Amino acid sequence: MSNYHIKSLEEYFKVYRHSVREPELFWSEIAEEHFTWRKGWDNILEWDFNKPEIKWFEGAKLNITENCIDRHLLTKGEKTAILFEPNDPNEEAEHISYSDLHKRVNKFANVLKAEGIGKGDRVCIYLPMIPELAVSMLACARIGAIHSVVFAGFSSKALATRIKDCDAKIVITSDGSYRGQKTIDLKGIVDEALKQCPDVASVLVAKRIKSDIEMVDGRDKWLQPLLDEASDECDIEIMEAEDPLFILYTSGSTGKPKGMVHTSAGYMVYTAYTFKNVFQYKNEDVYWCTADIGWITGHSYIVYGPLLNGATSVMFEGVPSYPDFSRFWEIVEKHKVNQFYTAPTAIRALAKENLSYLEKHDLSSLKVLGTVGEPINEEAWHWYNDNVGNKNSPVVDTWWQTETGGIMISPIPYVTPTIPTFATMPLPGVQPALMDENAQEIKGNQVEGMLCIKYPWPGIARTIWGNHERFKNTYFSAYDNMYFTGDGARRDATGYYRITGRVDDVVIVSGHNLGTAPIEDSINEHPAVAESAIVGFPHEIKGNALYGFITLKETGESRVQDNLRKEINQILSEHIGPIAKLDKIQFCDGLPKTRSGKIMRRILRKIASNETDDLGDVSTLQDPEVVENIIEGRIQ
Ligand code: WTA
Repeated sequence: MSNYHIKSLEEYFKVYRHSVREPELFWSEIAEEHFTWRKGWDNILEWDFNKPEIKWFEGAKLNITENCIDRHLLTKGEKTAILFEPNDPNEEAEHISYSDLHKRVNKFANVLKAEGIGKGDRVCIYLPMIPELAVSMLACARIGAIHSVVFAGFSSKALATRIKDCDAKIVITSDGSYRGQKTIDLKGIVDEALKQCPDVASVLVAKRIKSDIEMVDGRDKWLQPLLDEASDECDIEIMEAEDPLFILYTSGSTGKPKGMVHTSAGYMVYTAYTFKNVFQYKNEDVYWCTADIGWITGHSYIVYGPLLNGATSVMFEGVPSYPDFSRFWEIVEKHKVNQFYTAPTAIRALAKENLSYLEKHDLSSLKVLGTVGEPINEEAWHWYNDNVGNKNSPVVDTWWQTETGGIMISPIPYVTPTIPTFATMPLPGVQPALMDENAQEIKGNQVEGMLCIKYPWPGIARTIWGNHERFKNTYFSAYDNMYFTGDGARRDATGYYRITGRVDDVVIVSGHNLGTAPIEDSINEHPAVAESAIVGFPHEIKGNALYGFITLKETGESRVQDNLRKEINQILSEHIGPIAKLDKIQFCDGLPKTRSGKIMRRILRKIASNETDDLGDVSTLQDPEVVENIIEGRIQ
């Protein structure tokens, strides 16, 4: 039996028990056997959730790129590491072998060095889904620089906030990106952002759409000529286990985005281990995760997890609807994809289309189907299981977070019996707990509560960049000695977990986490707006959509209000990105508040979801009439 690769339910239970009884031993066995270390650790784990402080494999030395690339060269040099499928189906796919990847990463690393980037420097990467995105991340990791990838759908303001927060010295971008039929002027967005970031000394620009863009003298450089000149040899920087590997921003329920910091050794061990088990990857398999690398799913399960296992990882530049809704299935057939990992929102969008899109393609290569990012509804689960998987590819509903680094609760395919909408059981090393309103752990089964994790796992984020206090307050203050996830969950009679959704002011729209506070802050900047409250409501495809209740300084006529709606969404596009636009905007005379002046979002959530029959306790309301008026004016 191997701890590393679980192949039966009996093995799962055995390994799980071992991982709980002797977590340190369990993880050290895995770490020792499956990775290349330049020096072993002195201490497996040091932790205190109250501080909080978490250190795994202290004293060890390594470089993650040596583990992702170099160690595969001898046996898998010619194997495809990254299989790039372009936006345009007529453009040829690119097979980047492990030895090509080695050269490309080394060249890129040398270019960064020549730009003065070294260990500990922050590099902001604002790129579309093209190979340079993965290559530049690995190049940073090779020289010890900390990458901060910003999803290329974020606006210039959101980009500027993220560049400034971590003091990035350099930005890597492209002349633009393709998205279905559209092109997006990424470089223009970077130029706009950099007006607010005087400390960024250089911008490296990859050529993708060959558009005619302006280059700022002394700051902007085309990437390709630099890569052409650079050597394809670059020694690794030897990193300490707890040296930061990357920062990735996630929305919070208040204010600024949180720069989650992941470190080298723990993240490596955890993403490799979870990838192997949750996807049951075998040597000749072709694995495809449709996420954008700008999110944690792409970091852990397009780049690091697969490469650490010497896998072939498909990287898709386009969208599921271009040139038509058969694109995903066409790619599965073309590359004989074995493991397919996507989001419930994509499944719901595809399920709405005619089945013929799917039926004309041979999907028989598929062995495992994954979903991530939000709860999957029963209908979508069945559609995925029946039509895509033909009822013989297990669906793995994987629950995890930017903060957890890797998958936490998930079936192991061909091992764990699945039940629709249940993420089922914790992976080895993960110890979930459900907590009640009095901050006590709820034992036993058939219970529901706040989802916490009791014990550290190697992939947990170590801090929020520049704000350890916020890290503590957000995740470690609600419950004593526990990591609080912000999610609610149910444990059924057999001990299976079902995630019920966020319990804080984060709304997941099309799989993207959006904090309502930053959205409200942006809306309130409109001169006509007095106050706003944003809540989520169920949406057929997006999972949730945003509903805005807004009071104006002066109530205008309806024509004026229509213009205002457009202006408000324009502001949100500019401040955050198009994903933050509101689906419904209701102008009201007042918002429901408690006597102490706090907006009662709970009531607004019910109204937005059309559950007005039972509004719960409204006795603390300042003015109950406000609620009546809002219900009357509810937007259908
Ligand atoms: C939600 C994405 C239900 C959850 C990897 C979590 C899920 C948040 C699932 C993290 C799932 C993720 N079932 N809910 N299988 N997976 N979530 O940071 O609310 O973008 O807290 O990480 O997504 O989103 P994030």
